[in-house]
Amino acid sequence: MLENDYINNNFKITLEKGAFKKKRNHSLINIEEFWAEEAKKLVWYKQWDKILEWNPPFAKWFVGGLLNASVNCLDKHVESENKNKVALFWEGDNEETRILTYYQLYQKVNQFSNALKSLGVSKGDRVTIYLTMTPELLIAMLACSRIGAIHNIIFSGFSSQALADRVNDAQSKIIVTADRGFRRGKIVELKKIVDQTIDDLPSIQNVIVFKRSSNSIKMGKQDVWWHDIIKNQKSYCKPQQVESSHPLFILYTSGTTGKPKGVVHGTGGYLTHLYSTAKWVFDFNKQDIFFCTADIGWITGHSYIVYAPLMHGVTELIYEGTPDYPKPDRYWSLVEKYGVTILYTTPTALRMYMRYGNEIPHSFDLSSLRLLGTVGEPINPEVWMWYFTNIGKEKCAIVDTWWQTETGGIMVSHCTGIEILSMKPGSAMFPIPGIDLGIVNEENKYLSKNQKGYLVIKKPWPGMLQTLWKNNKKYRNNYWKKFENKLCYFTGDYATMDNESYFWLLGRSDDVIKISGHRLGSTELESTFVSHKSVAEAAVISKPNNTKGESIIAFIVLRKGYFESEKLHRELIKHLRKKIGPIATPDEIHFVNKLPKTRSGKIMRRLLKSIVIGVPTGDTTTLEDGTSLEEIQKIYNEINKK
Ligand code: WT7
Repeated sequence: MLENDYINNNFKITLEKGAFKKKRNHSLINIEEFWAEEAKKLVWYKQWDKILEWNPPFAKWFVGGLLNASVNCLDKHVESENKNKVALFWEGDNEETRILTYYQLYQKVNQFSNALKSLGVSKGDRVTIYLTMTPELLIAMLACSRIGAIHNIIFSGFSSQALADRVNDAQSKIIVTADRGFRRGKIVELKKIVDQTIDDLPSIQNVIVFKRSSNSIKMGKQDVWWHDIIKNQKSYCKPQQVESSHPLFILYTSGTTGKPKGVVHGTGGYLTHLYSTAKWVFDFNKQDIFFCTADIGWITGHSYIVYAPLMHGVTELIYEGTPDYPKPDRYWSLVEKYGVTILYTTPTALRMYMRYGNEIPHSFDLSSLRLLGTVGEPINPEVWMWYFTNIGKEKCAIVDTWWQTETGGIMVSHCTGIEILSMKPGSAMFPIPGIDLGIVNEENKYLSKNQKGYLVIKKPWPGMLQTLWKNNKKYRNNYWKKFENKLCYFTGDYATMDNESYFWLLGRSDDVIKISGHRLGSTELESTFVSHKSVAEAAVISKPNNTKGESIIAFIVLRKGYFESEKLHRELIKHLRKKIGPIATPDEIHFVNKLPKTRSGKIMRRLLKSIVIGVPTGDTTTLEDGTSLEEIQKIYNEINKK
């Protein structure tokens, strides 16, 4: 029996045969009309006058419409039978727990909205949120959206430099943080990291500090305690009606250039995309306990921990910590404890659990699960099968969801809420309804089946980024230039489509590195190396890693007067961890005399990568000087001998 038959024999029941194809084909007849029908499912103060204003490459969805995101996530439920339903089960890294109903969350958000207003925050102001995964993170986000402020969340694993770059680019007025957070039993010194850089953040007027521990910390003149500013605030704050294209948030992500890019998402289009994809992909229902293991500091958390589940009135589990702390069973123990029905996680976490063996998940009751999801990086077929058999016990469908920070929501996935289709391990399956994708080659030609090319998006979609913060030019160059004459959005990913039109995502085609599904740019890492006094030049690439997906490999040219040593090696690792954060820890650092460059001075990372992964280097004619490659080849010959 074919593997696919074996998998799909378990799924004889589909909702309506052909339903997915029918819906998708119908959506493509008139994409705008299709999404307008979906948008009607949100709560609007005023309906739009025009569905889409498309001034390539700038799109505005639902022009003239007025709405508020927090109203769609909270007020709607407070006025319904969901009022006292649990919104969040929260579990801290340290096994602390909290429960918040929709009504309680609503009250806290309202109070905090008033607190922000009391500090002078108003519509369009930027608020940076730097917190670990605690309910306050959601409360602060929703409070921003309630008053029309633009949130800018910074992953709590990032350190001072990364924080400063983002705060300064966004010109935030406020930072919301905590005295500390917890990860893997260790303290995350959020406030201390803010303090380290506060003098370099001229736009910041106040730092709001949530108190998590009884230890005292230093409070500066701009610092205010969360509990103090919410005191005496009313538990109702009138929501700000915003235009559909009003920016809901800026989220920084890494690209191919040195500086992180501030991806800007609007309100009406973004929320419509999330509302619909959540229904189609996860098929949320009243009884669900949804557990998305992402961190809210990344887009997955913004979209599928905060906005999508709350709009649907789902009960969800929010977890502060890591999959392997205190023991490598935490997700499974949480699934059992809370009766999780949908688990949405990453291939990296699954690969880690696989390494620990099947006994661990088998010792928990995972029978509450009905659907399994993955996101962030390609999932290897073996890992898919492991997930399917050992976690889903062959009874749960799998949704491998492909999308990006820029797309706002899911773009390619199995839509189990429309129809359960035959699954193929490792394929994200089909573009969702209302999304038109293509695969093109370097010559700008559309490819037919079974050919590898660049994945492009052919039509504007509601969740699409509006621009890069204060940088329309970079937005245009980054995403729309490569396939300009086709007017296609360039995703940066390789893909192929098989005989049955299933999509297979094949990883990045650019210099973006994915560590445990998190995005880091080579140039960003290189400039951080160069910011160390000993480093003259750096080239950073990645190589496949069995657990993390990819790992960081750096080639360093030292400045005069500095010499290779174990100590310097350690110091450079520390430098990266301190400036960017622990996810940027390099796995290998090699000291070399020269880097392979083109005559125009561009580092040829492609050649480095070929040597590191052991494939022929191919065309080297544009190389300025071959000795650099010989040196690196020698290093790798030595490594491979060991
Ligand atoms: C990049 C986007 C999607 C939210 C989290 C990551 C890769 C994402 C998949 C998948 C293969 C995937 C792509 C994409 N990616 N999901 N299911 N299969 N690759 O968002 O940090 O913006 O990264 O992640 O390479 O371009 P992000």
